[in-house]
Amino acid sequence: MQLEVRGLTKAYGPMKALDNLDLAVQDCGSLAIIGPSGGGKTTFLRILAGLETPDAGNIILNGRTIDFSSEAALTAHRRRVGVVFQAYNLFPHLSAQNNLVLPLVKTRGMDHKHALADTDALLARFGLTEHAHKYPNELSGGQKQRVAIARALALKPEILLFDEPTSALDPEITAEVLDVINDLRDERRDLVLVTHEIGFARHACEQVAFVSDGFVKTHGSSESLYSQSDSPEFQRFVSRIIHWKV
Ligand SMILES: Nc1ncnc2c1ncn2[C@@H]1O[C@H](COP(=O)(O)OP(=O)(O)O)[C@@H](O)[C@H]1O
Ligand SMILES: [Mg+2]
Repeated sequence: MQLEVRGLTKAYGPMKALDNLDLAVQDCGSLAIIGPSGGGKTTFLRILAGLETPDAGNIILNGRTIDFSSEAALTAHRRRVGVVFQAYNLFPHLSAQNNLVLPLVKTRGMDHKHALADTDALLARFGLTEHAHKYPNELSGGQKQRVAIARALALKPEILLFDEPTSALDPEITAEVLDVINDLRDERRDLVLVTHEIGFARHACEQVAFVSDGFVKTHGSSESLYSQSDSPEFQRFVSRIIHWKV
């Protein structure tokens, strides 16, 4: 992906969620965004997804400026991105299978037969065939998150955005979902991952951006950033988390 963000600002009342956020990412397949709670990560991801409009600033994604001024342009932009959130935003009243089929039919105008064929192939890929007819409340957290990822992929997005996809999961299930994300990265799909899993960010993502107080405090390749970042706040953040890991 190529991503150029300039001066991105977003306030909720007096609270500045994003404060002049700049970020330039070139030739990167996987970008991790880490940082303290309340730092602006979700707000940034939602703006990138076209779900929220910034007060100021602009974003160029793969050569195209996101046009926040018209609803039609935003709708077109939203079709380019797949989003997976922390709390598996599945439709509760639809089976796993229909969570994939319906968006394909309703938003992409695909005929039901083809939508079903695509869906079944994706569910099989994620080991979900036997769960196709279950409703979200009959699925485990990891299964729900795999359905959410399959649903995002079904729409063939140009880029995948993940917002803490594992933070509601047990450690073992977390590993299972991180494996899936790692496979997507191996397939060279462009992805942006907001995560607390800083080990995964470091070892599985090409670049890491540290967001705090509404802007990017430090950013670089994951190989070099951890040893070379000159941001004391980043170093403190990382060492504090590592301190409590095995
Ligand atoms: N819809 C909202 N209304 C009011 N305040 C919000 C809203 N969304 C986010 N904020 C505030 O903006 C700041 C950044 O939040 P967020 O982007 O969710 O950070 P993060 O994802 O890094 O935890 C926080 O102080 C949060 O309380
Ligand atoms: Mg968040």
